[in-house]
Amino acid sequence: MLEQFEKIGKDALTALKKVTEPAALEDFRIKYLGRKGKIIQMLGRIGQLSPEQKPRAGQLANKIKKEVTEAFDRLKNTLLQSQEQTGELIDVTLPGIAVNIGKTHVITQTLNELLEIFGRMGFAVAYGPVVEDEWHNFVALNIGPDHPARDPFDCFYIDDNVLLRSHTSPVQIRIMEHTKPPIRIVAPGRVYRPDTVDATHMYMFHQLEALVVDEGVSMVDMKTAIAQFIHAFFGPDTKWRFRPSFFPFTEPSAEVDLLLADKTGKESWVEMGGCGMVDPSVFDAVGIDNEKYTGWAFGFGIERLAMRKYGITDIRLLFENDLRFLEQF
Ligand code: DAH
Repeated sequence: MLEQFEKIGKDALTALKKVTEPAALEDFRIKYLGRKGKIIQMLGRIGQLSPEQKPRAGQLANKIKKEVTEAFDRLKNTLLQSQEQTGELIDVTLPGIAVNIGKTHVITQTLNELLEIFGRMGFAVAYGPVVEDEWHNFVALNIGPDHPARDPFDCFYIDDNVLLRSHTSPVQIRIMEHTKPPIRIVAPGRVYRPDTVDATHMYMFHQLEALVVDEGVSMVDMKTAIAQFIHAFFGPDTKWRFRPSFFPFTEPSAEVDLLLADKTGKESWVEMGGCGMVDPSVFDAVGIDNEKYTGWAFGFGIERLAMRKYGITDIRLLFENDLRFLEQF
């Protein structure tokens, strides 16, 4: 009898070794540890033994039951744990983990909207380098050697002849150097000026440059395009005006002001950027026939456009990366 008990125990442990997945656990339990299982049955048979045999058989049977039960529990734990780790057990009733979906920065959003508006108006997009030479940033744009815009206090020079571009107008030059008219482009990008940082100034900001060159292009074309753009971007009732101005690379030149209300409802004119008819000497610099072709251009500050559109009163908010601010857009 005792040998039979030993054998049942050994068989059970060998059978347990063959259990490698959770589904097989229950079969094993029923076969050995269930009410009709071999081990429980074995305990039942002790009652049939003589009083002298009972104690030893009882001890052995209990020892075997304990060993097998413990081995079974250990295996069960490891199998269920590894099942959890491989993600097979999913509790579909658990509340989900909210995923924060990233989004583009408000300046990128504004830029995308601007490019879309100008795309609809037939403008292609052009880009130029941020590290620029004096020829493209100044000379070809008719900005003479003594012009205050070339002052080291107004530009980040890298060496005598190279600087971080102080405006996007050099992209006009790069395009005209390599493209025969008709030209119709907008050029967005970063520009750099060593301004003291305050609510309306940053040492880096973005501009959107536009350039149109063709035969018979007039200031009326420029005015129409700018009006269309302002109405598309700010709404059809937006009031704006040209204010006479001067830029070395345009003649005549104007600044574009928008009439906008602040929080209290008080209206004032706010400058958005400059524009004008391309100066004939700029065409000379890039080898475009200034008898045959005329053109217009503008350069607008993208931060200004975004700040006006969304009522942002401090430019620094745009660059601090504070999520409480950014999440509002
Ligand atoms: N580049 C000028 C600036 O940064 C803005 C500007 C004025 C651009 C007139 C133009 C233009 O294309 O025609 O202040």
